[in-house]
Amino acid sequence: MMQEKNARRAVTAIVLAAGKGSRMETQVHKQYLDLDGRPLIWYALSAFEQSSVDQMILVTGTGEEEFCRREIVERYGFKKVAAVVPGGRERYHSVYEGLKAAEGSDVVLIHDGARPCVTGEIIRDAIDGAAACGACVVGMPVKDTIKIVDDQGDADHTPDRSHMWMVQTPQAFSYELIRKAYDRLFEEASHQRGITDDAMVVETMTRHKVRLIKGSYQNIKVTTPEDLEIAGIFLRKMGKTVDI
Ligand code: CTP
Ligand code: MG
Repeated sequence: MMQEKNARRAVTAIVLAAGKGSRMETQVHKQYLDLDGRPLIWYALSAFEQSSVDQMILVTGTGEEEFCRREIVERYGFKKVAAVVPGGRERYHSVYEGLKAAEGSDVVLIHDGARPCVTGEIIRDAIDGAAACGACVVGMPVKDTIKIVDDQGDADHTPDRSHMWMVQTPQAFSYELIRKAYDRLFEEASHQRGITDDAMVVETMTRHKVRLIKGSYQNIKVTTPEDLEIAGIFLRKMGKTVDI
């Protein structure tokens, strides 16, 4: 049979919302906190809904699936959410659940649901980057000087800032590559310590290079209470909020 040339590649966004938001120190998990009339997770879902991705997998806390289906997916009419699946203890467990649910995709984007300020342009660049390089993550050059400190809290050394980037999401990969990397991670439990992003899994478990592309200084992760205020400012400026 003839292979179809330039067949469109199926793109899935895995949106992570299975964390406990402990650094936020609120009763309600941070992904459900109200920001100008919408739950925080709404903003990331909305950005992907309006993008060219074919489908989304929403990864939520165990037991929160039905709530998310009803109160978020149905209530706000997200059409691209193909599945709501329970995540796991650490972020990388949640990603693995999302990857299993995204079987059959050509390209996957993995996104922190706690990054509401992601834009259509960033999503597009990440998809293009994954298509071109197989592994592409969004980030920005660091603005502060970073010091490596020892156990006593004394400065040990100061790495050259011009080579340092802070990493954001989405992180976009060929499905085959990221699935293989995660399968290996779960076969070799000794590698699981200190895994904080998906690029690390590719760096550790494969020889594939990971390309960094510029996201935006506004694409912040809402982690502590002041981040919610800052995200609100950016979203209002972007015309994304509904109440005001
Ligand atoms: N996440 C997840 N599953 C986990 C842990 C985190 O899906 N077991 C998600 C979070 O919901 C968030 C993203 O990964 O969207 C980034 O994680 P982080 O900012 O650390 O969120 P939390 O783990 O919820 O917060 P904290 O670390 O303060 O508890
Ligand atoms: Mg966390």
